[in-house]
Amino acid sequence: MPATVVVGTQWGDEGKGKLTDLMAKDVRLVVRYQGGHNAGHTIVVDGETFVLQLVPSGVLYSHTTPIIGNGVVVDPAVLLEECGMLERRGIDTSRLVVSGNAHLIMPYHYELDKMTERYLGHNKLGTTKRGIGPAYADKAARIGLRAQDLLDPKIFRQKLDVVLREKNAILSRVYNRLPLDADDIADLYLGDLAPKLAPMLGDSVALVHEALSAGEQVMLEGAQATFLDVDHGTYPYVTSSNPTAGGACVGTGIGPRDIDRVVGIVKAYTTRVGSGPFPTEADGETADVLVERGHEYGTNTGRRRRPGWLDLVMIRQAVRLNSISELALTKLDVLSEFDTIKVCVAYEAAGARYEHMPYHQSVLHDVTPVYEELPGWRSDLKGATSAAQLPGAARAYVDLVAAQAGVPVTFASVGPGREQYVSFAP
Ligand code: IMP
Repeated sequence: MPATVVVGTQWGDEGKGKLTDLMAKDVRLVVRYQGGHNAGHTIVVDGETFVLQLVPSGVLYSHTTPIIGNGVVVDPAVLLEECGMLERRGIDTSRLVVSGNAHLIMPYHYELDKMTERYLGHNKLGTTKRGIGPAYADKAARIGLRAQDLLDPKIFRQKLDVVLREKNAILSRVYNRLPLDADDIADLYLGDLAPKLAPMLGDSVALVHEALSAGEQVMLEGAQATFLDVDHGTYPYVTSSNPTAGGACVGTGIGPRDIDRVVGIVKAYTTRVGSGPFPTEADGETADVLVERGHEYGTNTGRRRRPGWLDLVMIRQAVRLNSISELALTKLDVLSEFDTIKVCVAYEAAGARYEHMPYHQSVLHDVTPVYEELPGWRSDLKGATSAAQLPGAARAYVDLVAAQAGVPVTFASVGPGREQYVSFAP
């Protein structure tokens, strides 16, 4: 049976964790395909909140095997801590498999992430400072250390010594920082972390293909989102991996013909964290309502997210970039606060109208959103369990998204709980 991809359509924090968790109830494997612990996927089960950074959402079901794919960058200490947290809360993590090809986040990656941001000054990207960019840069430069290197201390140490020479030269001579000690790093990674991580390491590609051949359901879980994609996002204000659906192939070791369903997650409004263009960004009371009602503070970093109205130009572009087959709308209940709700259906710049994202970012910086205004519903959606129970105005909002995006909306979330959603599936 072909795989399903779950992908964010905006700048992240769309509520992918909840959707992935919900969909995982029918699948055998859930595979994370990119990113690292810059992500924070929140799932609420029976009033209990779980925040997952690296472990795929499927871990909460005993019938799924969660896999960290080769496209993910892993800080082993963070992963082990997350597993410990889950175990203490009664969640069995023994089924977790980590791809031996996943790259490791090393102590110097954190240092370099912080220093690069500092030196960029007011041009900084606003990264999560988790070493993500430097780890992917080393992967591309072919000097990264992989999870499988933890199983071969001699190779690990050889690679570390080579790479640390250059990193320490940069840290001390460019950034005026203290050099890092290879023995300390080797003690931590090989002495402390490797024995604990070793039982989790495996051949994730083989596992995925065995499941697909056996006709089992496989779900590929993205982190971050379409417009944080290093190729298709608002570069340079992006992450360093490919959250778009194409990244799901590369990050798990399958080809495009192994995927037949791509679910795009759309938050009913827009947020972004960090710097970069944001045509529908709101301010004043609208911004405060979206942030406070939507709890729009970074799951990991606590940063206030920048809020704004839903931008359907972005969603149309996301449908194209990911070949999205259906959309799932999250946080619809947050909009219950408004008398009138604005939705951006096009952009205007220098007398031209754009139905699709302008390719040139200088144009994107200057666009004015063209809004449609819809009446709000001003009622609590949290108890709705079927489409029939949604107020007409909320239903009209969902219909507008589907019509403008050109793909059906099959699901709308109306509260944080696992059971708080409405299905529009036929
Ligand atoms: P990095 O991924 O830490 O390098 O950060 C690059 C950009 O991606 C910054 O603007 C971050 O705020 C953003 N970013 C990274 N991960 C997430 C996420 O999970 N949600 C939202 N934004 C993110």
